[in-house]
Amino acid sequence: MKIGFVGLGNMGFAMASSLIRNGQTLIVHNRTRDKARPLVELGALVVDSPAQATEGVDAVVTMLPDDAALEQVTLGEDGILAALGPDAVHVSSSTISPRLSQRLGRLHTENGRAFVAAPVLGRPEAAAQGRLVVVAAGPARAVERCRPIFDAIGSVTHVVGEHPPRANAVKLAVNFVLASLLATLGEAYALVEEYGMDDRAFLEILNGSLLKSPIVEAYGAKIADGSFDSNGFRLELGAKDVRLAVEAAEAHTVPMPIASVLRESFVAAMAAGEQDVDWSAIGRVNTRRAS
Ligand SMILES: NC(=O)c1ccc[n+]([C@@H]2O[C@H](COP(=O)([O-])OP(=O)(O)OC[C@H]3O[C@@H](n4cnc5c(N)ncnc54)[C@H](OP(=O)(O)O)[C@@H]3O)[C@@H](O)[C@H]2O)c1
Repeated sequence: MKIGFVGLGNMGFAMASSLIRNGQTLIVHNRTRDKARPLVELGALVVDSPAQATEGVDAVVTMLPDDAALEQVTLGEDGILAALGPDAVHVSSSTISPRLSQRLGRLHTENGRAFVAAPVLGRPEAAAQGRLVVVAAGPARAVERCRPIFDAIGSVTHVVGEHPPRANAVKLAVNFVLASLLATLGEAYALVEEYGMDDRAFLEILNGSLLKSPIVEAYGAKIADGSFDSNGFRLELGAKDVRLAVEAAEAHTVPMPIASVLRESFVAAMAAGEQDVDWSAIGRVNTRRAS
């Protein structure tokens, strides 16, 4: 396939690399052009605008941080929607609001074009190895046309229907579960620390119990060690996801009291200047005074 790719941050760069390694032809655009350079060595063509990454391709994938960036890149000057060919598909993998997904779906349909929401689960390491979990929703024919993309970046694809916002709601729900776990682990450590228990020893007990899971193992160790440096998932993006979950829930009168508390913890972490550390630092926000 000939694929355009817009947004080469931590995730986008890794996903684009996987697509090239899979034998796809890539035309890439990033706001900061320099970040695309290593992909040129792998065979990608770098262009200067989202429109140029869209003209003449079978599909264009966007991997941008938030609603504002995706809206600008899609609908703004030199944007994707006006440049998309009649049979081409816009695949949006960013974690965005269901509301924007619905709007972009409608605008593409009105223009005779296809929009597929395909947010992903997994970190940049998994993206680079083609092991993401893809959650896709959009017109059935368009989703099927994008199978080679999903197969290159992911090890499993869940198609959850033809209504794009559903895929975004699923993604927000998954990240809500994860964020709750991170915060909960931090509180549990704070409790056992006060009773003289070492965090790592406590983690061994968790990992030897029914709670054993890759998530508890990996994030449990990060929170225990306080090692939050990362090129993985920035805390600012985690804050955005929990905010979007609360807003999406409120729009449908769904109470999410735990998400509301979490949202305040993320605001506190941002106030402490932790936007760019790994989001697992949320596990320490309310437990800083523990010795
Ligand atoms: N990181 C993860 O583990 C992970 C996992 C699953 C899903 N996600 C989701 O995937 C999306 C991307 O995450 P990420 O970690 O790759 O983010 P990131 O590292 O912050 O990268 C963001 C990318 O978007 C570009 N960008 C930002 N604002 C822009 C704008 N206004 N116009 C055009 N380009 C803009 C940046 O360009 P510059 O290079 O010029 O800054 C950069 O290429 C987010 O929605 C995130 O929630 C992330």
